[in-house]
Amino acid sequence: ETIAEEIKGYSVSNQEELEAYRLRFIGRKNVLVDLFAEIRNVPNEEKKAYGQAVNELKELAQTKFQELIASLETSEDDSESPIDLTLPPVHSEFGSIHPLTATRQRFIQIFERIGFNVSEGPEIEDDWHNFTALNFPENHPAREMQDTFFIEKNPDIALRTHTSSVQIRVMENEKPPIRTLSPGRVFRNEAISARAHCVFHQMEGLYVDEGVSFADLKQTLYHFAKEMFDKDTQVRFRPSYFPFTEPSAEIDISCQICHGDGCNICKYSGWVEIGGSGMVDPNVLENCGIDSTKYTGFAFGMGIERIAMLKYGIKDLRLFTENDIRFLKQFNTV
Ligand code: PHE
Repeated sequence: ETIAEEIKGYSVSNQEELEAYRLRFIGRKNVLVDLFAEIRNVPNEEKKAYGQAVNELKELAQTKFQELIASLETSEDDSESPIDLTLPPVHSEFGSIHPLTATRQRFIQIFERIGFNVSEGPEIEDDWHNFTALNFPENHPAREMQDTFFIEKNPDIALRTHTSSVQIRVMENEKPPIRTLSPGRVFRNEAISARAHCVFHQMEGLYVDEGVSFADLKQTLYHFAKEMFDKDTQVRFRPSYFPFTEPSAEIDISCQICHGDGCNICKYSGWVEIGGSGMVDPNVLENCGIDSTKYTGFAFGMGIERIAMLKYGIKDLRLFTENDIRFLKQFNTV
């Protein structure tokens, strides 16, 4: 009885344990051999039943042995099947960071380190935030200069032509000192070409505090150019006009494609324009409730596409929106 229980309850998890079982119940000196020998001492009338019982035990031991071998084989299979470390990995396609996103992130990183925050505003704007508060006179041709898309027939609502509108919103709601960057999509009714698009991205910056000067503007933009491109990048300011800044200046940097040797991107001049800048016009500060006798400020605005084109040597602005995978793939490591 007890031997039958022992056999039934047996389980093995490796070859050693299997061998121990074999020696005990199957091998030449197994426990059943002794039981068979014992038959001599059993009374005659019980010999038959005794013999049968021992034979059954022997069979039980044999079938159990086969089961144990089988169980060991499947458990060995199991331990290998979930992960096969010798298999080559399944290739997965990760997306890449869009070059405009990478450029915007780098832009923000550079300015956050010198105390700027990031502000955003609506793409559909009213006349006040896009023009009037920015000192565009009523019916002034500068409004047409911006090739504005108006919404339906309401001349008060338009797609913003620049993110200067966001700066107005910040100045209306916050008190100086203000240091803010306004990235975002802007819209102008222009024909699409390698150099222009009707939808593009701007990064505008604004600094308002006591005693902010043109020297601060220049030094900040020098710093930006060297961080965004490289330490040898040259910066030059050309006098210009914007209704919202006085004085105003266009910002040029040394051509990052030919590095001054002359190419069709810089039209053989060695310089490329990257944006506009200037000291915030006192009228603009007053329009936003900021005391212009106490505070001064500078502002600048750049096209993110233009910066990305110079940074990565991209010669056609349309590539940014075509989503050609062969183009996007190249920015995997940005
Ligand atoms: N808002 C101007 C533009 O879109 C750029 C600019 C910003 C110029 C700030 C001067 C100061 O063209």
